[in-house]
Amino acid sequence: MASPAPSPAAPILAFATLAVLVSAAAACSAADRDALLAIRAALSEAHLGVFSSWTGTECCTNWYGVSCDPTTGRVADLTLRGEAEDPVMAPAGHPASGVMSGYISDAVCRLDRLSSLILADWKQISGPIPSCVATSLSYLRILELPGNRLTGEIPQSIGSLSRLTVLNLADNLISGAIPCSITSLASLKHLDITNNQLTGRIPADLGNLAMLSRALLGRNRLSGPIPTSLGSLTRLSDLDLSENKLTGAIPDSLGSGHVLTSLYLGSNRISGRIPASLLQNKGLGILNLSRNAVEGSIPDVFTNQSYFMVLDLSRNRLTGTVPRSLALAAYVGHLDLSHNRLCGSIPAGPPFDHLDAESFASNSCLCGGPLGKCATAFKVPQGNFFWLHFMDEAESNRVKVAGKSEKHHRTASKTATQGGHDITSFLTVVILGVGLNAKPELTLETWAHQKALERLQEKELAAVGDADTE
Ligand SMILES: *[C@@H]1O[C@H](CO)[C@@H](O)[C@H](O)[C@H]1NC(C)=O
Ligand SMILES: *[C@@H]1O[C@H](CO)[C@@H](O)[C@H](O)[C@H]1NC(C)=O
Repeated sequence: MASPAPSPAAPILAFATLAVLVSAAAACSAADRDALLAIRAALSEAHLGVFSSWTGTECCTNWYGVSCDPTTGRVADLTLRGEAEDPVMAPAGHPASGVMSGYISDAVCRLDRLSSLILADWKQISGPIPSCVATSLSYLRILELPGNRLTGEIPQSIGSLSRLTVLNLADNLISGAIPCSITSLASLKHLDITNNQLTGRIPADLGNLAMLSRALLGRNRLSGPIPTSLGSLTRLSDLDLSENKLTGAIPDSLGSGHVLTSLYLGSNRISGRIPASLLQNKGLGILNLSRNAVEGSIPDVFTNQSYFMVLDLSRNRLTGTVPRSLALAAYVGHLDLSHNRLCGSIPAGPPFDHLDAESFASNSCLCGGPLGKCATAFKVPQGNFFWLHFMDEAESNRVKVAGKSEKHHRTASKTATQGGHDITSFLTVVILGVGLNAKPELTLETWAHQKALERLQEKELAAVGDADTE
């Protein structure tokens, strides 16, 4: 063969050179390799074989989940995820779900150039977070250990990790209080300690974390107030404090967050009123205050820029009406005002057209919209009436009939029934008078609404029964 064919060796040579360069650049430190082997020895993973590549000396290039700083050859990242769409773990394209047991060895603290430590969603890794992590791993930027069975406390000196941007310990069994030192994590952007067994108060200075954009502390046993300082977090976009034991009012300052998009405060013991600033916040798309003891009326401050994917105010002690301005909102996807003490007619308008009766169920006396027509007012026979007396909000807005006398009441009942008015038998004539200053929006029509009738009926059955036996 005379013609000079291109040498097939050329590309192979080039590849080999590249490989040598790469491995030379990231030769594994022997000390780091020993530490990794000690970490591996404390863990066991039987099905996926994530550690099967952890043999030989090239821990930087060949070991699954390990990568090194190319200049120092020190281990910089240790990333092992039990639920990942990583093609290595899920060759068929299905997300793999692995199980790993054991504990996190102190040896991890010898990887003192570690920038990210991720052992996520292995379900069975137990034991505490080694406290030396906070004191030895000063280069750490990402610490993610969610979805395991870690116990013990968050290391007290966690605040020493001055480079930390992500701290995710969600879905474990971590107990104790949130260490105060956490408020020194000046670079922290993402804090997720959801679903643990944390107790005590939220550190009052959490608002010092100027870079914080996500603060997820839900599903713990945290008590005490929502720190007012959170309102000074100008980058905060998601705040989840739901399902704790928080008390006190929602700080007004929270509503001023410029980029706040979701606020979950459901299932706490929060009282006080809804700050108008929250509902006026143009960026807030998810607001969940469900299952608290929030009282007062819903501020009537919605605008055509209000855009709520979720507005859940259910199961509180809200009084007054459904705010008229809600009809202006550009969008309200999921609205839940049920199980409150609201009264009056539901406004007409686009946001209400697609809502079910469930959104308004179990209130004092709502009507209209999906609840069906508000009954029309009827003429009151002269001279035969009793007063409905409304206890004000302080008296839990309970509806109570206070007849001028029982006799008056019965007379009124009979007269109205005999008069053939189309009304429920026991309740007759309503004059709004005494005590209605607390409910200026209340009208006769709302009174005939089924919910109110039922409530009154319960209270009055006994009295009517007495009358019949006379
Ligand atoms: C609001 O929060 C409560 C309590 O955390 C929860 O039960 C409810 O499902 C949430 N509402 C929506 C619409 O997600
Ligand atoms: C929203 O309302 C303001 C005044 O209330 C009005 O000037 C503006 O055009 C409205 N915007 C839209 C998108 O309807």
